[in-house]
Amino acid sequence: MIEKRKEDHIRICLEKKVEVERDYWKMLHFMHKAAPEVDMEDISLETEFLGHKLAAPFMISAITGGYEGAEDFNRVLSTAAEKVGIGFGVGSQRAALENKELRMSYEVIKEADPPLVMANLGAPQLIGQKGKHVFKVEDGEAAMDMVGAQCIAIHFNYLQEVVQPEGDLKAKGVIDKLSAFCHELPVVAKETGAGVDGETALEMKNAGVKAIDVGGMGGTSFSAVEYYREGTDRSIAKEFWDWGIPTPASIIECRRSVDIPLISTGGVRSGLDAAKALALGADIAGVAGGILSSANISLDDTVEYLENMIKGLKTAMFLLGCKKVEELRDRRIIITDELKDWII
Ligand SMILES: Cc1cc2nc3c(=O)[nH]c(=O)nc-3n(C[C@H](O)[C@H](O)[C@H](O)COP(=O)(O)O)c2cc1C
Repeated sequence: MIEKRKEDHIRICLEKKVEVERDYWKMLHFMHKAAPEVDMEDISLETEFLGHKLAAPFMISAITGGYEGAEDFNRVLSTAAEKVGIGFGVGSQRAALENKELRMSYEVIKEADPPLVMANLGAPQLIGQKGKHVFKVEDGEAAMDMVGAQCIAIHFNYLQEVVQPEGDLKAKGVIDKLSAFCHELPVVAKETGAGVDGETALEMKNAGVKAIDVGGMGGTSFSAVEYYREGTDRSIAKEFWDWGIPTPASIIECRRSVDIPLISTGGVRSGLDAAKALALGADIAGVAGGILSSANISLDDTVEYLENMIKGLKTAMFLLGCKKVEELRDRRIIITDELKDWII
């Protein structure tokens, strides 16, 4: 069942348009510096994130695992992350915890050595959902061991759960369950495309998370992905296609509310998008849906995709006179169109 769902997700993302309508990054503009006063060769993208040194402030965010074909994807993605020196997040490991035969599609990640590996489990499965296994801290440890991870993402995907036919719809007490995990493991709270507001970010921080991946709206829409799956209530999935907090607004919300590291995933498709995310307060940028078609072609294409992103970020930093990534936070950024209405 999970196996089929995981395969469907990848197939649908490769074959259909599953992105939200608007590109919120295009509603942001930098104030260009005509005399940047920095030499390109002196610009460093090196970033420390959760105590790990990344060659650039990027990660491949959680995508897959849990069906046969996922092994190749995870091999390519984790090797590409190692080659360019960025973080790597595996997709939800629930399938392999429930069925040992599926482990190889995750364990393959251990063949590569990216500077940061993030395991992944779902927040809804930390609560008792009708007759289903409840994940405990030991399961989190097992998930981390399976991929040699230094931290674990607990994903909040209630938009997806509510539109999919087999969704887990209990959410009461989820922050308490998150807190229990945080007492024992280094946890990153993560949304999957609908964003995190400031109030929830504070609850997550108080629960003890080490970082938040805002997983905002603007890229892959899981309501759209579910729309194409058999059995889904298509009218509801369509209605909620564009549901969520735009990623840039979510970063601003969270950065105002908490002082812990933030990952900006959700529609990041270029180095310039990433530069904007970092200027708004993110520490690193994450990419998921955008890298899938390159990963489906080859390792070389995937590395090239990432290198282009890195080049785009470096170009933006040059034109803004930033020698280090942190300096982007002081640069002027102009917020336009409907994105303005999100910033109160
Ligand atoms: C095919 C696919 C599968 C995904 N599976 C997971 C998952 O298992 N766990 C998770 O935390 N996020 C998952 N995500 C969500 C991404 O990590 C990310 O938060 C979201 O897609 C928004 O980023 P994007 O616009 O770059 O795709 C998945 C995304 C895609 C495209």
